[in-house]
Amino acid sequence: MTEDEVKMGTTVYVPHSSCRDFRWMGDYEAVYRESVKDPEKFWENIASELEWDKKWDKVLEWDYPDSRWFSGAKLNITKNCLDRHVNSSKKNKVALIWKGDDGCERLYTYRQLHREVMRFANGLKNLGVRKGDRVCFYMPFVPEHIVAILACARIGAVHTIVYAGFGSESLHQRILDSQAKIVITADVSIRRGKRIDLKSLVDDAIVNAPSVERVVVFRRTQPEIELYAEMEIDYYDLIKDESNICEPEEMDAEDPLFILYTSGTTGKPKGILHTCGGYMVGTYYTCRYIFDIKDSDVYWCTADPGWITGHSYVVYGPLAAGATVMFSETTPDYPDLGVWWEIVEDFGVTIMYTAPTAIRMFMKYGEEWPNRYNLESLRILGSVGEPLNPEAFEWFYRVIGKGKLPIVDTWWQTETGMHMITTIPGDPMKPGFAGRPVPGIIADVVDKDGKSLEPGISGKLVIRSPWPSMMRGVWNDRSRYEKYWNDVPGCYTTGDMAVKDKDGYIMITGRSDDIIIMSGHNIGSAEVESALVENEAVAEAAVIGVPDSLKGNVIKAYVILKEGFEASEKLENELKYHVRMTLGPISMPSEIKFVQSLPKTRSGKIMRRVLRAVETGADPGDLSTIED
Ligand code: WTA
Repeated sequence: MTEDEVKMGTTVYVPHSSCRDFRWMGDYEAVYRESVKDPEKFWENIASELEWDKKWDKVLEWDYPDSRWFSGAKLNITKNCLDRHVNSSKKNKVALIWKGDDGCERLYTYRQLHREVMRFANGLKNLGVRKGDRVCFYMPFVPEHIVAILACARIGAVHTIVYAGFGSESLHQRILDSQAKIVITADVSIRRGKRIDLKSLVDDAIVNAPSVERVVVFRRTQPEIELYAEMEIDYYDLIKDESNICEPEEMDAEDPLFILYTSGTTGKPKGILHTCGGYMVGTYYTCRYIFDIKDSDVYWCTADPGWITGHSYVVYGPLAAGATVMFSETTPDYPDLGVWWEIVEDFGVTIMYTAPTAIRMFMKYGEEWPNRYNLESLRILGSVGEPLNPEAFEWFYRVIGKGKLPIVDTWWQTETGMHMITTIPGDPMKPGFAGRPVPGIIADVVDKDGKSLEPGISGKLVIRSPWPSMMRGVWNDRSRYEKYWNDVPGCYTTGDMAVKDKDGYIMITGRSDDIIIMSGHNIGSAEVESALVENEAVAEAAVIGVPDSLKGNVIKAYVILKEGFEASEKLENELKYHVRMTLGPISMPSEIKFVQSLPKTRSGKIMRRVLRAVETGADPGDLSTIED
């Protein structure tokens, strides 16, 4: 495959013909046409497959840039994820299969999960949690995490999950912004056999966070850590006397379901708000249409619930679709590089959804590892988080998919809630291209005025009309919500750059702002910069992403030291450690360069794009505003 072919979208992989019956609603072109001809009818038909306590008065009320979906409708998302299946032949179907870092296994049927969720929901109620209250999670990837998420939704509490790889300062900021009443955590998370203390990070994070009333602690290790009884309670003590019946709170379709923080271009993270009805419809729809989840599937998404992928495609979407959901605490390389493929073989995984960075890591270690296992159960492969580069696509297709399976490279965002651009299983795939907009979504590549660009010309990726699972706001920050809709007239701006080909396939080429996508995680340059300047040695800092063959990008920081401080390896390590402790290991720069000055505009803004150009040898663009 030449680079030009990839660029023009002329290299096409057609999955094996047996994949062609992967259709729930019908062929892409026909479904897409219908969906844009009458979007409200399209979404209404999907919503009608789910259970509502009361149906909507109106499918969509669109008051740019605000949308209300299924207004007047009443529901509880957990009724669709649990009760609906418990009241069907799926009652004793396995809902969750979990494999721990140490190899242990746990299974929950829909009936068992339903009861555990209701029990924990009663426990939360007993702590005084009510509809609308915020509950913050800082949990390892264990079944108790999923139970507690669903328990919040059961009683109408708003969960805000913080990935356990963030540091205490990041957790503190999110607790403050969301005004969380309860924090749910564990003593430790376990990675590669090592225990990582979570509880003491929570202890630090709740200092000067007066909204927090109680901390629930899942204690996994012996001897049990001591709890401070006035404030802290053990996860299982909380529910030991609780009934396993808890009627679901009746929620309005537009009531908040959760807040999930994502990096912004300023130092402060943005609390992306999702609501109950539309989010349920969007995640259910895409699980059925993009993943083609069927009753017999064993579906495995490798994401952690701390990210939107975990929310939409570990918890809500697949459970609403009644799937058997595999999830695992294991890292792909521990105890050895075969562990993920062993899971596929052992549990007969049929659909596997993972990230390009994991695929590239496997590529590095060779085909022997996956080749030791029987991967014949697989029928659909998926990728998310960053562009799936053609080399990684080819490897995934050939080595894991044995040259037969469809790969769905799904482009979407925390803000979109659900898949927006992808290739439907069974349709021709173009390596390097995510694919076409999913039915119901009008995506386009445009110039700054919103004018559609010709194939082959790179521009801003936008969405032209509302969809049910779109974010409804940024918590406590109206203007940041409006910014998504102000940049290009009439459109939702994604912040990504893209290019279309002649068939309408879209290739994502990178971010247009100062967000770094590293191993599929969003990291805001400004957030890392402000952590650096907190250090007494640092006068100024600029942070950029530098292309990396494994992680997509790595973080590089340029630092100007204050008078009296000298550059040294020791200081570099100290600064890295400082970022690690405040923001967490995922935000740690891999390199720090000490410099005397930084490129700035005349108004004093650091021009990160100039640094990026210096780093990659690219054209720095317009330099007319540069001061020096
Ligand atoms: C990037 C993750 C290329 C993109 C679901 C987007 C992708 C950001 C893809 C959102 C993909 C996600 N191809 N880029 N298939 N999927 N991205 O909010 O830059 O964590 O804007 O949501 O990840 O990241 P977020």
